[in-house]
Amino acid sequence: MFWNCRLRHKKEEMIMANNFEFYAPTKVIFGKGTESETGRQIKEFGAASVLIVYGGGSVKRSGLLEKVEHALDDARIMFCELGGVVPNPRLDKVYEGIRIGKSKNVDFLLAVGGGSVIDTAKAIAYGLAEPEKDVWELFAHTRMATKCMPVASVLSIAAAGSETSKGCVITNEKTGEKRAYDDNLARPKFAIMNPEYTKSLPDYQTESGCTDIMMHTMERYFTNGGNMEITDAIAEGLLRTVMKNAVILHQNPGDQDARGEIMWAGSVAHNDLTGCGNDGGDFMTHKLEHELGGMFDVTHGAGLAAVWPSWARYVCGECLHRFVRFARNVMGVTLDGTDEEVAEAGICAMEDFYRGIGMPTNLDELGIHPTDAQIEDMAERCMIAAGARTGSAKKLNREDAIRIYQNARE
Ligand code: NZQ
Ligand code: ZN
Repeated sequence: MFWNCRLRHKKEEMIMANNFEFYAPTKVIFGKGTESETGRQIKEFGAASVLIVYGGGSVKRSGLLEKVEHALDDARIMFCELGGVVPNPRLDKVYEGIRIGKSKNVDFLLAVGGGSVIDTAKAIAYGLAEPEKDVWELFAHTRMATKCMPVASVLSIAAAGSETSKGCVITNEKTGEKRAYDDNLARPKFAIMNPEYTKSLPDYQTESGCTDIMMHTMERYFTNGGNMEITDAIAEGLLRTVMKNAVILHQNPGDQDARGEIMWAGSVAHNDLTGCGNDGGDFMTHKLEHELGGMFDVTHGAGLAAVWPSWARYVCGECLHRFVRFARNVMGVTLDGTDEEVAEAGICAMEDFYRGIGMPTNLDELGIHPTDAQIEDMAERCMIAAGARTGSAKKLNREDAIRIYQNARE
C-alpha cells in the first residue's frame, strides 16, 4: 500500500490511496445508429448461436429489437430469443434461459434492454458455463464462479451500469431474496449505446436511472478507507453533470444531448473508475435498498433516493470530512457554518434535488409502509447479504439497519 498526506479545507484530512486494479474490458460503441454494429461485433467472438434476452416489450415498441435482429441476420448469425424479463429480475426466468440455452447450444448472450435484462443474461451465462451446478449458489454466496459465457448488451436505459460492471443482481421470487454476485468473469464484451432509444422512457424511469447512476458514484465517494484527488475530481464532475442533465430531462425528455450525457455517465459511474484508490466503497444504501426491492418490488433508483437521506444522517458524524466536501463541491453549499451544519445543508440540498426531479426522499413518498416486523426482517437479511462488507462511511450492524429503515419512514 502506498499513501500520502495533504492539507485540505480548514481541517487536516489524510488522504490515503489503496493499491488498486482497474479492469474495464468492455468495448463501448456509442452514438446514433450504433445498433447496426451488433452483428459485426458478435462475429468477432466467433459466436455460432446467440440468445437474445429482452424485457416486457419496450424494445419491441421502440423498434430497437428489430434493428438488432436485422444486424444479426446481416452478419448471418443464428439466434433465439427470451423475452419477459421483469424489473427486479427473477430467478425463474434465469432457469428458463439456461434451459433454452442448453437446448439450442447457445454460446453468446446478448441483452437488449436495461439492468434487469443484462443481469438476467449474465446469470444465464454463468448457468450455461457450469451447467451441472445451481446458479443461485453464486447469489447465495456458497460458491464462486469459475467460468462464464460471453455476454454483451444493446442498452435501452441509462441506470444500473450493468453494461460495463461486474455486478449481477437477481431476485429469488420464492424466498423474496434479492442478491448480488460480483465477478469480473461477467463483465460484458461490448456495450452498444444509442441514447436516442432512451427517449421512450417514462420520466420516473429516467430519473430513477439518474439517481442510481449518482448513487453508484456516491457509494464509492463516502468512505473512510482511501481516496485520491483524481478519483474525487472525476466523481464530483460526474455527479454535477448527472444532476444538471437530470433536471434538463425532467423538463424536456427529448433533449438528445442530455440523454447522451446521462447514458455515458451511467457506464462510467459503475465500471469502477470512480472508486480507484478507495477501499471498495460503502454500498450499504444499495444493500438496504435491495431488501426493499426483494420485499416490495420497488424501482431500484427510487428506492435508493428514499433510503439515502436517512442513511446519510445516520452515518454522517463518522465520515464528516467527506460529507463536508460533498456539500461544498457537489451540492454547491456556501454556508459559513460548522462542519456538521455544512454536511446537513448538503444532505438537505440532495433531498431538494430528488424532490425537484420527482424522486422520493423517504419510504412514505416511495409508497411503501413496512411494519416493524418487516423492517426487522429486512435488516436481518441485509446483514446476511452484506456478509463482512457492512459499510465504510460507518460499519453497520443489524440495529443500525433497523434504525435507518425506521428513520426513513417519513
Ligand atoms: O421491460 P421493458 O418493457 O423493457 O421496460 C423496462 C422496465 O419496465 C423499462 N424500459 C427500459 N428501457 C426502456 C424502457 N421503457 C421505455 N423505453 C425504453 N427505452 O424500464 C423499466 C426498468 O428496466 P430495468 O432493466 O429494471 O432498469 P434498470 O436498468 O434500472 O435496472 C434495474 C436492475 O438492475 C439492478 C437493480 O437492482 C435492478 O434489479 N442493478 C444492477 C447492477 C449491476 N448489475 O451492476 C447495479 C445496480 O446497482 C443495480 O442494483
Ligand atoms: Zn444501483
